[in-house]
Amino acid sequence: MSLSIDLSGRRTLVTGGSKGIGEATVSRLVEAGATVMTTARRLPPHVPSGVSENLFITADLTSEEGCRTVSDAVHRHWGGIDVLVHVVGGSDAPSGGFAALTEEQWTRELSLNLLPAVRLDRALLPLMVACGSGVVVHVTSIQSQLPLPDSTLAYAAAKAALSNYSKGLSKEVGPKGVRVLRVAPGWVETTAATALIERLAQEAGTDMDAARQGLMASLGGIPFGRPAKPVEVADLIAFLVSDHSGCITGTEFVIDGGTVPTA
Ligand SMILES: NC(=O)c1ccc[n+]([C@@H]2O[C@H](COP(=O)([O-])OP(=O)(O)OC[C@H]3O[C@@H](n4cnc5c(N)ncnc54)[C@H](OP(=O)(O)O)[C@@H]3O)[C@@H](O)[C@H]2O)c1
Repeated sequence: MSLSIDLSGRRTLVTGGSKGIGEATVSRLVEAGATVMTTARRLPPHVPSGVSENLFITADLTSEEGCRTVSDAVHRHWGGIDVLVHVVGGSDAPSGGFAALTEEQWTRELSLNLLPAVRLDRALLPLMVACGSGVVVHVTSIQSQLPLPDSTLAYAAAKAALSNYSKGLSKEVGPKGVRVLRVAPGWVETTAATALIERLAQEAGTDMDAARQGLMASLGGIPFGRPAKPVEVADLIAFLVSDHSGCITGTEFVIDGGTVPTA
């Protein structure tokens, strides 16, 4: 029997809700009864089910202006907020180690993986503090503890900064009734990851399973034998933002099938 999670009426912002982990999170939180606003740079072919069209906000969150568009929408539509889930992030850095990472690339990784959370928290946390309650989740990555050197050094550093920032923030706003948590996924097989596996399998003339195994090996292996599913990350987030987790704050939850070899 699944744990019943009731988020009825909770005003919830999920950034990056049109694909992958964000899309699954929006769907799970809507199912639990939350009123969800979500964002992406582009409107997907269909607004996620259960999200009103006027609560899908298009904005590039790497800019201050894009973040302001989203925080203004929260103020305009709701004048308050109960749950904030920062999913936006990722990396398109080239491989080639530290020397391949230009000034622009470093700025981009920090602008996508650290600053949207910092800016949106600065604009929206005062609303939570004013009513003495709220939950913030920062989606980080196991790379904040287990950085991969080839192409994701800047991404890993940005996620480590996000994790450190999140912990500090939790200490400041915990006494004011606001919980701040981190979810650190390992490899999650999103639609984009499945497409990558298909491409790798085609290029190598193997099947999907062999390509998936190859990718897992490049991470140093996943003891559990498979990547996580977006819905599994979404279920964890739903639990963490619910009242079942009412006394949990300032902690990081790793969901990686055992990839990180230490505690
Ligand atoms: N997938 C994994 O294996 C994995 C592992 C560890 C951590 N994570 C973390 O989990 C989070 C989600 O990853 P994912 O793989 O599910 O992502 P994804 O499938 O690439 O989706 C990213 C979402 O963010 C939006 N987005 C991307 N760039 C944006 C920008 N500049 N401004 C506003 N929105 C933007 C995308 O829509 P548009 O493209 O239309 O903007 C989309 O809705 C990220 O923080 C990632 O670092 C993922």
